[in-house]
Amino acid sequence: MNLIRALDGKTDGFEINVSCSHSGALHGNLNLDFDHLQKLLNAIRPVTSLPIWLKLSYSPFVVEMAAEGEKAGADAIVCTNSIGPGMLIDIHTGLPKVGIKGGAGGVTGPAIFPIALRCVYEIKKAVAIPVVGVGGISSADEAIQMMMAGASAVELYTLPALEGPKVFGQIRGGLAAFLAARPHLSGISDIIGMSQDKAVAHRFSAPIPVISEEKCTGCGICVSSCSFDAIRLSGMNGETKAVIKDNCIGCNACVGVCPPEFNAITTRFQL
Ligand SMILES: Cc1cc2nc3c(=O)[nH]c(=O)nc-3n(C[C@H](O)[C@H](O)[C@H](O)COP(=O)(O)O)c2cc1C
Ligand code: SF4
Ligand code: SF4
Repeated sequence: MNLIRALDGKTDGFEINVSCSHSGALHGNLNLDFDHLQKLLNAIRPVTSLPIWLKLSYSPFVVEMAAEGEKAGADAIVCTNSIGPGMLIDIHTGLPKVGIKGGAGGVTGPAIFPIALRCVYEIKKAVAIPVVGVGGISSADEAIQMMMAGASAVELYTLPALEGPKVFGQIRGGLAAFLAARPHLSGISDIIGMSQDKAVAHRFSAPIPVISEEKCTGCGICVSSCSFDAIRLSGMNGETKAVIKDNCIGCNACVGVCPPEFNAITTRFQL
């Protein structure tokens, strides 16, 4: 509270971290502690009129924590902090490679992106205040996904920590290129939350992917990736191309295996 008083007026706002993937080992699991969240916000909310962003971490109760935070006066929800605790073991020694007490520590970076994205998507449904997406963003693609899920802004830690501040310019460049290729969008705000309705409509459907005859090189990687024997290579106009068969169940596993330089398999749902 004293820190907030001291900084009040000298900053644009406060991001208050009420989350920690290894806090259970240190001082109780903050991610599940509704009482702590309420007491904290009840104490600091009256001290400043500047925006208070509440930083949460994934737990089965993260949506309820976000709603509670909004009720107690938070101006935005930031999600997610690191997730875990997780563990890595050095195979030469058998000792933990990361972490604190008991060799456990928070997991960050690309491994947590799908969970972070889902958190943002669900929290956006539950609160009226803005949501800020963080967790595993490594390129403009993930930043755009976060915004489509409902994030008004994004944050990064692991990527700039590993590669330096140049990544911010690269991501900004990627966002600009995304918009330039879609002149029907008036700006990045057009995509914020756009997947909220689309994802609901999409929930029970299993779209069959599309293979671009023009882009497919016939390398066959997708054929061996399909557990359902639902892609075959076929001769077309003197060239070999991949073709989806009638027994495709729409699992979309093959979409991710076509090498990015070919990018020949896409889902049916496009902007
Ligand atoms: C070494 C390290 C230290 C961190 N310390 C903090 C911290 O003090 N407070 C906080 O809110 N988040 C902290 N984080 C979490 C990050 O801010 C971020 O929420 C998380 O790493 C997920 O984003 P990323 O995948 O882009 O790194 C830390 C992350 C790492 C890797
Ligand atoms: S992986 Fe891509 S390029 Fe290779 S055969 Fe399949 S669709 Fe064609
Ligand atoms: S969507 Fe799934 S079942 Fe269909 S072709 Fe691709 S990998 Fe096979």
